[in-house]
Amino acid sequence: MKKNIQVKDLENYNKNLKVLVIGGSGQVGTEIKNQKYKTNFEFFFPSSKELNLADQGSIKNFLNNDNFDYIINLGAYTDVNGAEKKRDISKSINHIGVEILSKEADTKNINLIHISTDYVFGETLRAPFHPNDNKSPVNFYGLTKSNGENAVLTNHKSGIIIRFSSVFSQYGTNFVKNMIKLLLTNPHVRVVSDQKISLTFAKDFSTNIVQIIDLYKKNINTNERIFHFCSPGFSTWYSVAKIIFSELEIILQRSLDTELIPIKLSEWKSDAKRSNDTRLYTDFDYYLKNDIKFSSWEDSVKLVVRKALPQILDEI
Ligand SMILES: NC(=O)c1ccc[n+]([C@@H]2O[C@H](COP(=O)([O-])OP(=O)(O)OC[C@H]3O[C@@H](n4cnc5c(N)ncnc54)[C@H](OP(=O)(O)O)[C@@H]3O)[C@@H](O)[C@H]2O)c1
Repeated sequence: MKKNIQVKDLENYNKNLKVLVIGGSGQVGTEIKNQKYKTNFEFFFPSSKELNLADQGSIKNFLNNDNFDYIINLGAYTDVNGAEKKRDISKSINHIGVEILSKEADTKNINLIHISTDYVFGETLRAPFHPNDNKSPVNFYGLTKSNGENAVLTNHKSGIIIRFSSVFSQYGTNFVKNMIKLLLTNPHVRVVSDQKISLTFAKDFSTNIVQIIDLYKKNINTNERIFHFCSPGFSTWYSVAKIIFSELEIILQRSLDTELIPIKLSEWKSDAKRSNDTRLYTDFDYYLKNDIKFSSWEDSVKLVVRKALPQILDEI
């Protein structure tokens, strides 16, 4: 049960809220940077050297720098396969670092929005999962992110968790960009077709950032502390690849010679175990009431293909 909380500075929207974004160089962080002049917020985007989640002292020092009103924690060790081998570092960033961050933010009365993942689910096949469903990660990354969530809920009186799934954008590394490259450089591309997924377009989060902060304020004295944030509808990686394929043909005005081959998840070799189904249930009625709007993932995938293609053509 949450306590009644006086949240500083939430009443006056014209005031410049100081928003610290951890993980600002990543896909979602870059999209937030693009929005920074469209809000009244004063954003801070430290690098992972300036605020290193794997270093307790670095977290504490950075939070002593200023009186932040909000922290949005996008920082994470996100290499799912790498996390199987680099267990210490992924645990220190995704779990222990988040625990320290939660305690420090709570002590300093800084509101905390922590970003998590559909990978906290997977062992139990009851998707689409609702925010408060029992968690059951199948790999080490999912376990560290799940423990990070628990650390926020235990150590911060008002912190919230927002879970994304299969994030894509024109920035950083993601399936859409990898697939463009593969389709343009390989005669045969094998893509998993029996894994059900939700998708999060990074820009949907950044364009709604003011409303998301507002949602924190509205929720402060409720028990709602976990949210899912994904585009409407579900998909498979194979369906996403087919859209990328046809969009490439439209843009390039030619047929691709590449053969797109559907395969089963069991045929796909990877260091980390994956679940067949980690779809997240997103409450769109609730978001709409809070003026938070989502784009269709199909349109967003096509947009990313158009935006990312010139640079990929330069690279290949
Ligand atoms: N990508 C997905 O498909 C996906 C799916 C579900 C949920 N999520 C979650 O969504 C959030 C954002 O994902 P994303 O795709 O934007 O991530 P991303 O592009 O992989 O970027 C990760 C960010 O974390 C930072 N970081 C790494 N180690 C750090 C450390 N020790 N201290 C501080 N920051 C550190 C990175 O900084 P450097 O560039 O300096 O390393 C980078 O800015 C993450 O919490 C992730 O778990 C992602």
